[in-house]
Amino acid sequence: MKIFIDTAKLMEIKESLKWGIINGVTTNPSLIKAALEDEKKTGKKINMEEYIKEICYLVGKNGSVSLEVISLQAEKMIEEAQTLFKKFNPVANNIAIKIPIDTFIKGNNIGHYDGLKAISVLARMNIPINVTLVMTPEQALLAAKAGARYVSPFMARIDNYVREKLNISFEPMDYYESKLEREITSLKLTQYLRNNSHQSIANLYKDKNVKEFVYTNSDNGVYDGIDLVKQIVEILNKYNFKTEVLAASVRNKRQFREVAKAGAGVITVPFFLFKEMLQHPKTEIGLKTFCENVVDEYRDLLK
Ligand code: E4P
Repeated sequence: MKIFIDTAKLMEIKESLKWGIINGVTTNPSLIKAALEDEKKTGKKINMEEYIKEICYLVGKNGSVSLEVISLQAEKMIEEAQTLFKKFNPVANNIAIKIPIDTFIKGNNIGHYDGLKAISVLARMNIPINVTLVMTPEQALLAAKAGARYVSPFMARIDNYVREKLNISFEPMDYYESKLEREITSLKLTQYLRNNSHQSIANLYKDKNVKEFVYTNSDNGVYDGIDLVKQIVEILNKYNFKTEVLAASVRNKRQFREVAKAGAGVITVPFFLFKEMLQHPKTEIGLKTFCENVVDEYRDLLK
């Protein structure tokens, strides 16, 4: 599994590259905004082109740097993708261009299909595309068919979407125990069916309450962000697509583990999460004891 870092902050990129485990960087307009706000606090003037070139150089030729387009019309996205690719790919031959899977925003007068159009044109030009804002397996399949190099399912955003539908309150970094929620739902449904067993099958099938039990705890059959990744991995493997699944929108270490178990090719991880993944109270206690127990005879060996 490749590990990317989900940030545009140079400090975080530089530090994480020293660990020897990072294979790439993903950015988006919000991450670039956050990075620039940080840099501006230090009073520095930023030259955007030089800043991104430095990221590309640091990541190097064996890695990948994702940069996102900002327009929504196919022709403009194609132009922007070519501009970004021409400017930054020569640095270390590591650019992937992010294109949204759906370009529709109410009131914007742009349809749904521009993303797909741009992906297919750019893929045919051999520009690696990272298809972003993927929220369903079918979006991922369409992106793969259009020639995407990566598809990025947004896990936390799906977790939040399902929990909001269910009115479950949560903290932004919480792991969503959808398995527990599903067990509760299934128990409640069984009880409801038992209490209404005198009704016909047809009536129960159409019953509003039954429908609510069945449909509100998923997004059209996707139970949570991890489930989204699993379903995409399953579909793409079935047809031997070369497209890699790049699990994105990660909030906690359990998600990291579950993505690894699901067999996704790549995960992009926010900087803060690495510390959480390394920390364990028993590791700390064990380390403390080892440090205290070093005998002089052994210490002398290392002088
Ligand atoms: C990565 O490529 C994505 O842009 C990123 O993970 C965004 O997700 P988030 O804003 O929900 O964290």
